[in-house]
Amino acid sequence: MRTYLVTGGAGFIGSNYIHYMFEKYGDEIRIINVDVLTYAGNPENLKEVEGRDNYTFVKADICDTEAISRIFAENDIDRVVHFAAESHVDRSIKDPGVFVKTNVLGTANMLNCARAAWEKPDGTYPEGKRFLHVSTDEVYGSLPEGDGYFYETTPYAPHSPYSASKAGSDMLVRAYMDTYKFPANITNCSNNYGPYQFPEKLIPLMINNALSGKKLPVYGDGKNVRDWLYVRDHAKAIDMVQEKGELFETYNVGGHNEKQNIEIVQLIIDTLLEILPDSDPRKANVSRDLITYVEDRKGHDRRYAIAPDKIRAAVGWEPETCFKDGIRLTIEWYLAHEDWMKNVTSGDYQKYYDSMYKV
Ligand code: NAD
Ligand code: TYD
Repeated sequence: MRTYLVTGGAGFIGSNYIHYMFEKYGDEIRIINVDVLTYAGNPENLKEVEGRDNYTFVKADICDTEAISRIFAENDIDRVVHFAAESHVDRSIKDPGVFVKTNVLGTANMLNCARAAWEKPDGTYPEGKRFLHVSTDEVYGSLPEGDGYFYETTPYAPHSPYSASKAGSDMLVRAYMDTYKFPANITNCSNNYGPYQFPEKLIPLMINNALSGKKLPVYGDGKNVRDWLYVRDHAKAIDMVQEKGELFETYNVGGHNEKQNIEIVQLIIDTLLEILPDSDPRKANVSRDLITYVEDRKGHDRRYAIAPDKIRAAVGWEPETCFKDGIRLTIEWYLAHEDWMKNVTSGDYQKYYDSMYKV
């Protein structure tokens, strides 16, 4: 039975990946999920898998060498899928330090512990060991409006402390592959959306605010472009890269689904008005009048867009969920999980929201 060590599995993409893997492989695999449970990590995201004999949760920090080495010592780990990170650009602008610590030093620690456990005395690695580092397209910087794509060969040009710290972590993985022939891959994915995304990110924030009649804060002119991918398609891409990808390669993952932020916000409002029955009291809150243009994000990247040619040719991956279906599924999920939203927006998040948005 193959054993996976997933880091950051209680977060948005990690929890969707764990659900995807158990749906696909059932009892054929074992997953150990290591997560320190920051504000973004929520064990509730995994309550359906908690009771499985082939699932284990370990609360630990990826920077903690002793804790991570112990997991490798006590388990014969075949695959690492490394999601754990600080992931929100706005938070990185307010407080970059923790991004450097978790994203750069935490990744270095994961690489060191995996290498110490896996490398043989002759410097080779046992067949089947693989480390997948989950990264972002934001490391490539910003594209001009309507012109060009990010390729795996695009030079790195990060602008935010978040993307700079992810770029640093990618460079470490590259260095370990080059120096130690460490068996790894890097995936650089575009913006994800779907269930379990923390409501500080654009799509769940707008859904949540619209339902409660709060203003919808659109940064700058609202015309920044992101390339949106349904999270389950990302989970599938990660699995396919580990199954069929060439070791030491980087793969860009994206949806060919570019949208301006303002288009997304309008679509969310229109979809909510279409889905909600008249009897639902939340419907009266939802209106385009809630849209409020606010001060732009500092260093705001204008456009991201991925050309997923390499991953398509190498492993046969393509995005499967069109945006119209994906956004509907996402909105329906949030409507059906009001309690989840209430739990994650109480307490600390409320304080963050009040200090961040003065609208
Ligand atoms: P998230 O913020 O929802 O989840 C991050 C998880 O990591 C949380 O469960 C958190 O508790 C955990 N974590 C944070 N610091 C940790 C530490 N020191 N030790 C152990 N666990 C820790 O993030 P996400 O959106 O799910 O992103 C996952 C990964 O995918 C990140 O590496 C991110 O850079 C990358 N990524 C995200 C997107 C996106 O659109 N969200 C796109 C491309 C790549
Ligand atoms: P976000 O979800 O934070 O992802 P990222 O910055 O990693 O791409 O933001 C997506 C886009 O939406 C980005 O251009 C910033 C914009 N945005 C707003 O206009 N208002 C908001 O309240 C948020 C959170 C984001």
